[in-house]
Formats: sequence, C-alpha cells, structure tokens
Amino acid sequence: MKVAILGCGLIGERRGLQIAPHEIVGVYDPDAERANSLAKKLNTRTFQNEEDLLKNSRCDIVIIATQNNQLAPLALKAIEALKHVLVEKPAAIQVNELVALKEAAKKSKVAVKVGFNHRFHPALMKAKELCDEGALGELMFLRGRYGHGGRLGYENEWRSNAKISGGGELIDQGVHLLDLIYYFLGPLPHHTSMVTTSYWPIKVDDNAVLTLSDGKKWATFHVSCSEWKNTFSLEIYGRTGKILIGGLGKSYGKETLTYYRMLPEMGPPESKTFEFDSEDRSWSHDLENLVNHITSGSPLLGDLDSALYALKQVREAYRANGFLNLPCSV
Ligand SMILES: NC(=O)c1ccc[n+]([C@@H]2O[C@H](COP(=O)([O-])OP(=O)(O)OC[C@H]3O[C@@H](n4cnc5c(N)ncnc54)[C@H](O)[C@@H]3O)[C@@H](O)[C@H]2O)c1
Repeated sequence: MKVAILGCGLIGERRGLQIAPHEIVGVYDPDAERANSLAKKLNTRTFQNEEDLLKNSRCDIVIIATQNNQLAPLALKAIEALKHVLVEKPAAIQVNELVALKEAAKKSKVAVKVGFNHRFHPALMKAKELCDEGALGELMFLRGRYGHGGRLGYENEWRSNAKISGGGELIDQGVHLLDLIYYFLGPLPHHTSMVTTSYWPIKVDDNAVLTLSDGKKWATFHVSCSEWKNTFSLEIYGRTGKILIGGLGKSYGKETLTYYRMLPEMGPPESKTFEFDSEDRSWSHDLENLVNHITSGSPLLGDLDSALYALKQVREAYRANGFLNLPCSV
C-alpha cells in the first residue's frame, strides 16, 4: 500500500516511523520546517498543500494527524478523493462532522479507521483475548484512570484552545477510554458525570469523571491533565475473574497485565502477571488493521462508529456539566 501523511507533528512522525512494510509516498504540513524534517527522516517528498498531495501522491491511504479541528475536514477531502483514511482520534470536534464522514465513506466506498491505537497495545490485545475466551466469565464492569500532568505553558497549547481542540481532557485522553469501553462492553450510555477545570487556567476541562451504564453493565473512569504521575490503569471485571492493566510504557510505566481467577471456594484468587516490552508497536498494528480490512475485509478495530459513540458521550458530559460553549457540546 502507498501511504501519505497530512500533519507532521508528534503523531504524524510517530505514525510515519511505523509505515513499513508499506511505502510512504509523501507528506504535507503547512509548517514547512516540520514537513521537510519528517520528509527527510522518512526519505520521501513533500507536497505543496493537501490538494496537491491528494491529487498527485498516488497514495492508497492517507494518515491524518493534524490538530483536532482539521481532522474531519481533511478526512472528508480525502474520502472525496477516493482515498482510504486513517484519521487520528477524536476524528472530529462535533458529532455532526462524524455523521457526514460516515455518509461520505459509504458513498465513496472507502475505509475509514480512527486512530484508537490503544486497542493494539499488547496488554489490551491480551485482555481482549482473555475476555473473548471466557477467562473472566460474563463481563460486569470496567474501571479506568488515564492522565498526564501537562507541562509548562500547557495553557497556551492548542489542546487548551477550544476552537482548535473542541474541548479539553475529555475529548483528548477521554476518547481512548470511551473507545475501550465500547470495545469491551459495548455502547454504554451516559449515566452520570463530573467535568471540571481544577488546575489549569483554561476555558476547557482538565479533569472528567464519567459513569456509563445500560442498567446492567457499567463503566467508570477518571481522565486528568493534572495527574502528576503519568498514569494508565484499566480494570475489567467478569463474574469469575478480573484483569488489571497498568502502564503503557515510557513515562506511563512498564505495561503489565495481571489476570486474577476466582476459585470455586472464593477467597484470594489465583493470579498471573504478564509484562510487555517497552517498544510501542501499536501505531504499526493500527495501520495493519486498516490494510487487512481493505485487502481481506477483516473487521476494523476502532472505526467511525466507535468515534461516534465516544464523541456523543463527551458531548453529553459537557452539556450535563455546563460546558455549553465548547464546539463539542453543540
Ligand atoms: N492516538 C493517540 O494516542 C494520540 C496521541 C496524541 C495525539 N493524538 C492526536 O493526533 C493529532 C495530532 O496531535 P499532535 O500531538 O501530533 O499535534 P501536533 O501539534 O504536534 O501536530 C499537528 C500538526 O498538524 C499540522 N497541520 C495543521 N493543519 C494542517 C493541514 N491542513 N494539513 C496538514 N497538516 C496540518 C500542524 O502544523 C502540526 O504540525 C490530534 O488529533 C491528537 O488528538 C493521538
């Protein structure tokens, strides 16, 4: 497959470095320095603008890794140019943009994957395998924590600018946890939420606690960008056991999964811990999932439906907590 990249920032580069065995055919970023630097690293060429790239790169797949407010408009252009698309999460800043993308993708008969790469972290892949083989029995509930501590000047970054980001921490790290809830338990609706701006001098949220429930299964999580020790923790509970995932590598700590199996006599469970090495190949698996879907029709893991689910929950929580001026609450 021939792959091109729109957006040469942190994630464009991360994805660009994991294109192989596919071929990179070009990149574009309005920041020419970034575009040139990534093109050099990937040994490829730059294009004049997005139209030039879509028209002349002969790519099969476009990776879109721009700031949030550019994701859906660029994805739409790529779809209309009959390209398959891997668009970063949250894929849009408004629910109606995602609905339009779904319609356009159907009309153009192209595949659109959303960059929910957490599904392809080894601990998450192992968790899915254990759940699918019934190791936990019937699933009951899930509990998650995800956060980082920002950095000096975070209040001036695009993530803190609602017009560009669509919202705050909930639309940023929150959508990953919402996607994982969708993946493991299905589209659980909003039950209760608390969304706050606790620390940063910004007009978007920096902390959110959500509970989702369909009356039987439920999930609850806290996301934060005033989490002073970078944290990722996910617990999945079934009737006969639980899984505890901790870390995502690097600053989030070693990625581990512990499987606890309840014994018939109850009491302390048996446990087994798996540790995963620190190289993050989730970006490459994410792309491979899209390629396999295109070439052999295998399911897309993290698609516009999961993005739509996630963004609707974000919108609901923003509305319920009085964050009515954010693009995402429309
Ligand atoms: N999957 C993940 O785990 C994960 C992690 C971090 C960020 N992200 C997502 O990735 C996206 C990018 O985040 P980032 O941290 O790389 O941001 P960034 O600011 O480092 O990079 C964004 C780049 O997009 C460029 N850009 C803006 N408009 C453009 C256009 N029209 N065409 C081409 N390029 C354009 C900017 O100049 C910038 O270089 C965001 O949507 C973010 O939510 C995903």
